[in-house]
Amino acid sequence: MARPWRLLSIRSFKQFTLTTNLNFFSMNLNIIDILTAKRDGDALSDEAIRWLVAAYTSGDVTDYQMSAFLMAAFIRGMSEAETQTLTRAMLYSGEVLDLSDLPGIKVDKHSTGGVGDKISLPLAPIVAACGVPVPMISGRGLGHSGGTLDKLESIPGFNVNLSISEYRWQLQQNGLVLIGQTPEIAPADRKLYALRDVTATVPFIPFIASSIMSKKLAEGIDALVLDVKCGRGAFMQTEPEAKKLAQTLVEIGEAFGKPTVGWITNMNVPLGRAVGNWLEVEESVRCLKGENVPEVMELTYVLAGEMLCLGGVAETPEAGCEMAQEVVANGKAFDKFLKIVQAQGGDPRALEDTNAYPNLAPAYDIYASDTAMGYVQEVDALTIGKTAVLTGAGRMKKEDPVDPGAGIYLHCKPGSEVHPGMRLATLYTHKTDDVPTLQHAVISAYRFGEERPAPAPLLIQRVTGKQSG
Ligand code: URA
Repeated sequence: MARPWRLLSIRSFKQFTLTTNLNFFSMNLNIIDILTAKRDGDALSDEAIRWLVAAYTSGDVTDYQMSAFLMAAFIRGMSEAETQTLTRAMLYSGEVLDLSDLPGIKVDKHSTGGVGDKISLPLAPIVAACGVPVPMISGRGLGHSGGTLDKLESIPGFNVNLSISEYRWQLQQNGLVLIGQTPEIAPADRKLYALRDVTATVPFIPFIASSIMSKKLAEGIDALVLDVKCGRGAFMQTEPEAKKLAQTLVEIGEAFGKPTVGWITNMNVPLGRAVGNWLEVEESVRCLKGENVPEVMELTYVLAGEMLCLGGVAETPEAGCEMAQEVVANGKAFDKFLKIVQAQGGDPRALEDTNAYPNLAPAYDIYASDTAMGYVQEVDALTIGKTAVLTGAGRMKKEDPVDPGAGIYLHCKPGSEVHPGMRLATLYTHKTDDVPTLQHAVISAYRFGEERPAPAPLLIQRVTGKQSG
C-alpha cells in the first residue's frame, strides 16, 4: 500500500512539507523561507501568514522584502483559505472596535476603486442625515484610482487622523465620522496599501478583499455595502472577475456575521465629470446642494437605499432610495456634511463658496481637433485615471504628496455632441512642463463616432449573501 505522502502530487507534497515545517518550527519562521515558498507557488500556512503580517506591521520585515512577497503572491496566486487568513491577520494587526454601546445599526460603504469615484462624499452625509450611523474608514488614492482620504484632505483644515476616542465621540455626536487607517485600526492595511500602490500589485482579489475587509471589519460596523467597480478604470476589468471579487467580499463579511450587499457597477467611463481631489469635492457639494449630476446621484441613491435598508430605517432598498432623495431635497444632507467638515477641523466656507477655493491648480483647456464631428463614444477611464495621477492628483511613490487642486474636468462625456475646436476637458496642474503631454493623453482617451451611443447601464449586478439576500 502506498504511504500517505505518496498520494500527494510533487507540488502538494512540497506544499505539505513546507506547511508542516513552518508549523513545526514556528520559532524559526523567517521572511526568506516565506518568500521562497511563495516564489515557488506554494500555499502558506496560517501561521506563516500571521507571522508575515505581524512582522511587516512591526517593521521587522522591510518594505523591499514585503514588495517581493506582494509580487510573488500576485504572480503565483493565493487560495481562498490564504485570503481568509490574510484578512484575519490584517484585521487583528490592530484594535477591532466595538461600537455596540452606541445606538443604531452602524453601516458603511466601500468601493473597490474607480476613476472620479466620489460617491462616499455625498453618500455618507445622506445616510447619516436619514438616521443611520456611518463610521467610515477610507483609503488614499491607489494606482490610477482616487481615494476618499485624499479628497477629504483637499478641504482646507480637514483632519482624517482622529484618535479612537475622537472617532467614537464624533460618531456619537454627529452620526458620521470619516477617517483613515490609524496606527491602532488595521495598521497592516495602512502600510500594505501604500506599498501596493507603488509596486503594481493592486489588482489582485486576495489583496483587495483583505485590504477592504480588514479595515471595514475593524471599524465597528454592523453591516456593509460594497461598490465593486468593473471595467476599464477598475481593478477588475471583466464581469466574471468583478463577480468573483464581489462574492469574495460578501462571503468574508458574512463569515464575520455582518450582512453585506455588493453592487457591481460600470467603470468604463469616469463617474461624473470631475477627476481629482478638490474637483471631486466640488462636484459632490453640487450634488448635495441638489444638482443631479448624472451617474453620481443615480449610484449614490441606490447605495444609500441599500445602507438605509441594512440600517433598519427603510423597509426596502427602494424605500431607502426615496428617503435619501428627500434629505438632499430638504438640505439636511448638505447641512450634515457641513457639520462633519467643521467637526473634523475643515473650513466650511470652502464648501459654501467653492469658487473661493484657494488651492486650485492652473487650468489648461483641451479642445477637439478641427475635424472632430459627431458624438463622443468613449472616454477611457483608465487613461483619464493615469493622466490624473500625472497631473499631481495621485502618487508615483509612497511618500509623494498629492496636489489637492490638480486633476481633470470632463466637459464632454459619452453621448456629447462634438464640433471642431470644441472644449472637451480642462486640465488642472502645477506641472507646467508636462502640459502638452498631459493634454495629448486626455485627447487619446476620447473616441468619436457618427451615431450617438446608447447610454451604458451603470448598475450591472447585485450580489448578496445568506444574511443580506
Ligand atoms: N480599496 C481598498 O481599501 N483596498 C483596495 O485594495 C482596493 C480598494
